[in-house]
Amino acid sequence: MLQSFNIRRPRRNRKSEAVRAMVEETRVTTDDLIFPLFLLDGKNQKIEVGSMPGIFRFSTDLMLKEVEECMKLGIRAFDIFPAVEDQYKDKTATKSYDPNFFYLRALREIKKQFPEACIMTDVAMDPYSSDGHDGLVKDGKILNDETLEILGKMALAQADTGIDILGPSDMMDGRVGYLRDVLDKNGFTQVSIMSYTAKYASGFYNPFRDALDSAPKFGDKKTYQMNPANRTEALIEAELDTQEGADFLMVKPALSYLDIIRLLKDNSSLPIAAYNVSGEYSMIKAAALKGWLDGERVMKETLLSMKRAGADIILTYFAKEFASLK
Ligand code: PBG
Repeated sequence: MLQSFNIRRPRRNRKSEAVRAMVEETRVTTDDLIFPLFLLDGKNQKIEVGSMPGIFRFSTDLMLKEVEECMKLGIRAFDIFPAVEDQYKDKTATKSYDPNFFYLRALREIKKQFPEACIMTDVAMDPYSSDGHDGLVKDGKILNDETLEILGKMALAQADTGIDILGPSDMMDGRVGYLRDVLDKNGFTQVSIMSYTAKYASGFYNPFRDALDSAPKFGDKKTYQMNPANRTEALIEAELDTQEGADFLMVKPALSYLDIIRLLKDNSSLPIAAYNVSGEYSMIKAAALKGWLDGERVMKETLLSMKRAGADIILTYFAKEFASLK
């Protein structure tokens, strides 16, 4: 027989919806989310990404409609990636800083129509590179400091469109400081940097590379993206990005790296972002489509886990679906 006077009964705080809501520690809201979107050249194009059911690549005209719909649902932040045709790719990613290229024109248009939206862009060479790498390739090697000069031009061209946050996703050493310097010298002191601080060489990016047709043409990204086995190294990256002037630190992917999110949260006073990447989206979608998982429930649980781990911000392909729930 249980003794009634000294038994702790944690179940009392779970006894009803009202009590459970009262003691709930973590909540995900649409304000926490950034919605990644894939942009195509041309007009009237909306093409689903084969490996990401429910996620589309849009031409600028239809992307404007998509942004409008999302804004009505309460999503105010977007991260926009260009899908570039092969004929426009080259060794030095020249199109990345051509102001007449469709990506930069689209960014300008989006900021013009939705000045209150928070627009983030990607700084890395891979979508524009004929080598499919984030940096400049010479003799099979990725050159660090030479890449910075190209990233600098790309960042300035993006900043000039009026965007709000730059997302250097390339993992070159010193790029946050380099970009901060270039931005400040050119009067873009108000453009923020969300650094891909702990970006791992992960198998979870494949659907994204399908969406942009940006897979590396040779080798892998292990000489610049981090080894999934490493934890302490994330602290070095966080320290450097902080010294170099980052406004936000990001961990990517998220789900297999919840410990890294917590590590950075506990060791930094900057806001921490988690990138719930393409493969993490696709595996849940695939299982839900097969009827093996309750997709909506697992989506919510997944986003919650990232916030509970310490993420202040989540970049997620689930953003619109989450915001549409009622
Ligand atoms: C490339 C970049 C990648 C992602 C964002 N920026 C892919 C890569 O590093 O190969 C992945 C995002 C995702 O998988 O959702 N600089």
